[in-house]
Amino acid sequence: MTVLTKYLLLGALALSAVNAQDSSSSVDSTPTPSGDESASSPSTSPDTDAAATPVAGNGNASGFQFKETYPADSAKPSPKPEWMQIIANANITDAPVVKANGENGPQQQGDADPYCDWTFTTCTRDTDIVTCPKGQWGITYDDGPTDFSPKLYDYLKETNQKATFFMIGGQVVKYPDYAKRAFDEGHELAMHTWTHSYMTTLSTEQIVAELKWNELAIKEVTGYSPRFFRPPYGDIDDRVRSIAKALGFTPVIWNYDTDDWMVAETPGFQEQWIDGNATQWAAAAANTNEGGISLEHDLYEKTVDAAIRILPTLQKAYKVTTVGQCTGQQSYKEGTAPNNSTSAAPSASSSGVAANGSTQANGEQSKDQEGAASRSMDSRTAIGVAAFIGAVSSYLFI
Ligand SMILES: *[C@@H]1O[C@H](CO)[C@@H](O)[C@H](O)[C@H]1NC(C)=O
Ligand SMILES: *[C@@H]1O[C@H](CO)[C@@H](O)[C@H](O)[C@H]1NC(C)=O
Ligand SMILES: *[C@@H]1O[C@H](CO)[C@@H](O)[C@H](O)[C@H]1NC(C)=O
Ligand SMILES: *[C@@H]1O[C@H](CO)[C@@H](O)[C@H](O)[C@H]1NC(C)=O
Ligand SMILES: *[C@@H]1O[C@H](CO)[C@@H](O)[C@H](O)[C@H]1NC(C)=O
Ligand SMILES: *[C@@H]1O[C@H](CO)[C@@H](O)[C@H](O)[C@H]1NC(C)=O
Ligand SMILES: [Zn+2]
Repeated sequence: MTVLTKYLLLGALALSAVNAQDSSSSVDSTPTPSGDESASSPSTSPDTDAAATPVAGNGNASGFQFKETYPADSAKPSPKPEWMQIIANANITDAPVVKANGENGPQQQGDADPYCDWTFTTCTRDTDIVTCPKGQWGITYDDGPTDFSPKLYDYLKETNQKATFFMIGGQVVKYPDYAKRAFDEGHELAMHTWTHSYMTTLSTEQIVAELKWNELAIKEVTGYSPRFFRPPYGDIDDRVRSIAKALGFTPVIWNYDTDDWMVAETPGFQEQWIDGNATQWAAAAANTNEGGISLEHDLYEKTVDAAIRILPTLQKAYKVTTVGQCTGQQSYKEGTAPNNSTSAAPSASSSGVAANGSTQANGEQSKDQEGAASRSMDSRTAIGVAAFIGAVSSYLFI
């Protein structure tokens, strides 16, 4: 089906889910209200399976004490002055802050896309990581850590699979033990900002704050500063790219979207569609010249369950890796994490990463039109249903 048809279908599904009194999740591809009363928040199990209900608070059983006083995640934070110094002499693209139409998210003015805005045209630059080389698949999970994350960690540990987790700063502060566990078990920790906002609609100061507070929380827990970040909803343009680059961060988008979040938020969305799509992607592996990076969420029990179900399917068709592994890029500014068994000491020259964390463009990460087509529904859906986050904006991240 066409992208537009798909958008309309998904939009209609989401529309049917409207319930202004419910809270919204912080999924990447689409902000939506939770029409389904069973999916209001990860702190209340959206599943009736009582045995699987996580015990709230396990994510801080150690009583981890952060040194920093972190901003509340209910308002867009300000940066520390020294963070602005880092970019003082950087070449920041002089593009306008994109206007948001109320809570509808970024609004394109006219048809032109001079600043390569993914939300508008699925435009990417060579410096964006969008996929893995042929035969490889970067497995990524966003919006955690949550009380459902340990179930996924357990499965990944049993099957000796490493993954990339794009973590929200406030969730790391809330659940430091989960973040630490993921790190200790060899997963790649990456950033998903502080407030899960549309980055193109933020000021330069706000973008710096979103990334650096997120980095700092992960650094406090693990001792390592992530290099990879995923803009919420994929919302990035050249201005955001230039700010992130000046701070030493590399954006990661995706070229396969499971739409997994809909299983918990959108009545009518069928769980087996996630499996159906994964099966199709795996079947097509031999006929495509690119690899994949998929978008999933350790946000709900049902998305974690789906992640566990489809992983073997993907593993049969692809070598499933972290983003850093498949791109040959270093996961952290400080180098390779201690539990990384795939390689020895980090090497700035071989990884394409300067010692200070700046990156070089990677020629293999070029944009792909087919990938762009399959990605485009995400942003369209985001715009189509973003109207509903207005009533629930204070619950954007849970
Ligand atoms: C984690 O536990 C410590 C010790 O009980 C407490 O001081 C801290 O506030 C807790 N953090 C959160 C986010 O609940
Ligand atoms: C700044 O970045 C822009 C866009 O990437 C580029 O065209 C321009 O040459 C750069 N300017 C300097 C001084 O590096
Ligand atoms: C990972 O490394 C940490 C030290 O950073 C260590 O405490 C932990 O036991 C290690 N975990 C595994 C599974 O090797
Ligand atoms: C893939 O997912 C979409 C919804 O995201 C659904 O409409 C479609 O039927 C799924 N495909 C399969 C083969 O299940
Ligand atoms: C291990 O280190 C290599 C080399 O730096 C990197 O490519 C890979 O992503 C790392 N693996 C994990 C799980 O962090
Ligand atoms: C980081 O290192 C690169 C390569 O050596 C250099 O071009 C760049 O100016 C450095 N950036 C900072 C902020 O020191
Ligand atoms: Zn997200």
